Amino acid sequence: MKYIKKKLTIDRIKLEDIAKKFDTPTYCYSYTQLKKNINNFKKNFKTFSPLICFAIKSNTNLNLIKEIKKFGLGADVVSMGELMMALKAGMSPKKIVFSGVGKTSNEINYAIDKKILLINAESKSEIKEIDRIARIKKKKVQIGIRLNPNTDAKTLSQISTGKKENKFGVNEKTFFELVNYCKSSKNISLECLSVHIGSQILDHKPYEKMLNVVDKTITKTKHKFKFIDLGGGMGISYDNRSKKLNYNKYNIAIKKFLKKHPSKIIFEPGRSIVGNIGFLISKVIYIKENDKKNFVILDAAMNDLMRPALYGANHKTLPSVKKNQISKKIYEFVGPICESTDKFTSLKKFQKLKEKDIVVMCDVGAYGMSLSSNYNLRPKPAEILIKGSKIRVIKKRQKHTDLM
Ligand code: LLP
Repeated sequence: MKYIKKKLTIDRIKLEDIAKKFDTPTYCYSYTQLKKNINNFKKNFKTFSPLICFAIKSNTNLNLIKEIKKFGLGADVVSMGELMMALKAGMSPKKIVFSGVGKTSNEINYAIDKKILLINAESKSEIKEIDRIARIKKKKVQIGIRLNPNTDAKTLSQISTGKKENKFGVNEKTFFELVNYCKSSKNISLECLSVHIGSQILDHKPYEKMLNVVDKTITKTKHKFKFIDLGGGMGISYDNRSKKLNYNKYNIAIKKFLKKHPSKIIFEPGRSIVGNIGFLISKVIYIKENDKKNFVILDAAMNDLMRPALYGANHKTLPSVKKNQISKKIYEFVGPICESTDKFTSLKKFQKLKEKDIVVMCDVGAYGMSLSSNYNLRPKPAEILIKGSKIRVIKKRQKHTDLM
């Protein structure tokens, strides 16, 4: 993304033109950035060539998943819908892992029928249910057990998953019990230990701690795990100030771990693959003046991009055309929804805007569209992919009639 002759562009395509042609609000993705992210991810861990299972929850667009699949990635899914989507995109079942604390019998049934690589179980009850269904089907099912390593990921509390007070995984004591349970079952084959301590992690130290716990746990169980699934969580930089995750240090820690416990590493990245490929293009409907600030009322709202309302997240916000005049008042960028949390950001010294101007929010490729809803009966935005000089609608804008 850069300004060329004062116009904001992605891969040389002006976002202003996208807005004109496809209307707003619209999600727009860069294929070039996607390719770069996947290649970088692979390069960071190339010495042990992990199985990379893209976390479908971060972006559920079928056509985008098809592109991701072409780079050889598999999928991490957390529902029957996501599993169906990954398969529809052509992903090999042998590269799909199923996570989540509440898989229903129906979902387990489906996953077994589709012969996916692993069902990563998160409780004793779930393992018993997998065992029961596998027995009826007379099948042997490959599973993983998710360990809760009680490690602080040092990220937002809302997206932390690896501490003992979180609902995810099982503690070490239960883990040992479950390993024994699996050994006694004819229908379960325990192949994997999985962990995932949280999302938007920018410090490598929590990962090192997590690996230490995994190391100790495996040593104590004496079980040989074919796979170690380290989850995802690699953070990205939403502003230019925050520090970057040190992949090299994480890589070193994993290599050290693998010397002791030879196994195939699985990753489940979402944000690091698609976060910075996405932009939300919106139009200023009105500018409403107030004593202290001006409200810039956009046609995008919290239903289109939930992250600010849900986590206080801040997305870089840019005008589609650069101008020199600066507003004296603070701009508060809001949507039309009837909630005070329908607010994206407040900015000082933003360039002067007028109604119908185009405003772009950056880094919304992960958990942008996938968290969107129809709140206030607002149709969901269109999604566009820029690939080379080609601009393609990869999901049509919803119509009001779709919602009636
Ligand atoms: N694996 C598991 C088991 C997960 O729960 C998640 C994310 C991932 C992988 C992918 O994590 P990532 O690499 O994307 O950090 N909606 C929040 C993020 C929630 C993450 C949920 N789990 C946000 O917008 O920041």
